[in-house]
Amino acid sequence: MTSSDFEPVYDEVLPSDCIALPVSDHHSPLKDSDIRLSAGWKIRDLIVGYPKTQAAWDILTKESEIPVIWDMAEYITTEKLRMNDHGRTHALVTAASSLRILELLQSSGIVPDVVKTGIGDPDDASLIVLLSSLCHDIGNSIHRTCHLHHSLILVQPILDRILPAIYDNPYTSMQVRLFILSSINSHHGDPSPLTVEGSIVSIGDASDMAKGRADHSRDITKASIHAISTLSVDRVDITKGVTKPVEIQISLSHIAGMYQIQETLIPKIKAGTISSYVSVYIPVQHQYVY
Ligand SMILES: [Fe+2]
Ligand SMILES: [Fe+2]
Repeated sequence: MTSSDFEPVYDEVLPSDCIALPVSDHHSPLKDSDIRLSAGWKIRDLIVGYPKTQAAWDILTKESEIPVIWDMAEYITTEKLRMNDHGRTHALVTAASSLRILELLQSSGIVPDVVKTGIGDPDDASLIVLLSSLCHDIGNSIHRTCHLHHSLILVQPILDRILPAIYDNPYTSMQVRLFILSSINSHHGDPSPLTVEGSIVSIGDASDMAKGRADHSRDITKASIHAISTLSVDRVDITKGVTKPVEIQISLSHIAGMYQIQETLIPKIKAGTISSYVSVYIPVQHQYVY
C-alpha cells in the first residue's frame, strides 16, 4: 500500500465545489496532517479482516458528506470558540484509539454488547465503534452547546447511506444504528455509557490528549490550568496491560498533565462498563494512577 491509496479524507482535499473554511493551527503543536495520516493507517490496520467495517469506512470516507461536516466542526470549535479541534483529526484519532481498545478487550475475552446479545459479531462491534467514533462530535458543526444531540441528528442521513448497503435485514440495521446512537450520546461519560461499545468510544475520545490536543470546553488561548495541563501531555499509547487488558500509557513533560488525566480521562473510564479492564500508567513516574 502506498500513500497514494489514502482517500481525500486524510488530506486537505475537499470536493471541488466546496469552499475550504479558514482554520488556523493554533490548537496543536503537531501538524494535523501528520496526526491524521498516522491515525488513518492505524484504522486501516485495525479493521483488516472485518469486511462490514471496511465497507462502512469506504462509504463514509468516499461517498458521504462527512468531510464537510468535520471541517465545519473544526471551524466552529477552533475559530469561533478557541477550543481544540473537534473536526476530522479528532475523529480519526478517536477512532484509532477506540478500535485499539476494542481489539485489546476482545483478545482478552471481553465480549462487546452487540455480540453478547446475539445481534452481531465482532465485525459488527468494530463497525459500531468505528462509526460512533468518527461521528461522535459532528454536532459541533452546529454548536458546541448540545452538540451530543446535534450529532445524533446529523449522523442519521449518514447512517441511512451506510447501513442499508451493509445489512439486508432492516431489524439488524436498526439495532446496529441504535448501538451507534447510544455510543454517540454517551461519549462524554454523562449520561453513562451503557454498552461496551459506548464505553470504548468515551475512553477513545478522552485519549486524544497528546501534544495539546486534550478536549476543552473553554478558550485555550488564555493561560489556565486547562491549557497548561494539556500542553504537558507528550504522548499517549494504548497497549496490553500487565494486570488488565488495556493499559493507557501517558508520557508527561510536566506533572501539570495529571490534571487532564484526573479531570477528563479517569472520570470517563469510571463512567462506563469497562472500568475494571482499563489501567492508566505514567511511565516517567513508574506509577499507575488508575
Ligand atoms: Fe463531544
Ligand atoms: Fe470528542
